[in-house]
Amino acid sequence: MVIFLIGFMGCGKSTIGRMVAKRLDYRFADTDKMVEARAGKSVREIFDQDGEAVFRVMETEMLLQFASEENVIVATGGGTPCAAGNIEIMKRTGRIVYFNAGAECLYGRLYRGRERRPKLAGMDDETLMAYIKESLSEREHYYSQASMVIDCNGVSDEYIASHIRYYIENASCQV
Ligand code: S3P
Repeated sequence: MVIFLIGFMGCGKSTIGRMVAKRLDYRFADTDKMVEARAGKSVREIFDQDGEAVFRVMETEMLLQFASEENVIVATGGGTPCAAGNIEIMKRTGRIVYFNAGAECLYGRLYRGRERRPKLAGMDDETLMAYIKESLSEREHYYSQASMVIDCNGVSDEYIASHIRYYIENASCQV
């Protein structure tokens, strides 16, 4: 089974995805890291030098690579489900798990590392909070198409990981 983890920046997709993959003996993949490896530069550099549109094309190419895979957990970028046709690719290829976290929770996780993230670099605290709120409401339409939604507000990584594991183990039993 291919499991795509989706959700806003900072919600824990990569950290928790890696944990679950290790426990289930699944492969772990991260679309941002795949794009970086292909481009030979960081996501920040791709946005700055080539533009977001180039990044989005590469991101879609990465998603298409999972069509013939089994037993892999894929952490996607926060904007991945919202770009041209990507949610349909993920639905066709596997199951989608949404890490649902509110603006306060995300702000707490993002305010320190914002300079690494091209979408957030240079924002002051107030702008960051406003951006999170606005983008969350724009992206909700895509995020809500996941087959499983986990409420990530105020819960531990361990709790989220065990829910995903339960979901995967039970989904595997369905014909
Ligand atoms: C983005 C999220 C990032 C990365 C890029 C754009 C977004 O991934 O793909 O900076 O549009 O939300 P993370 O969610 O892993 O930070």
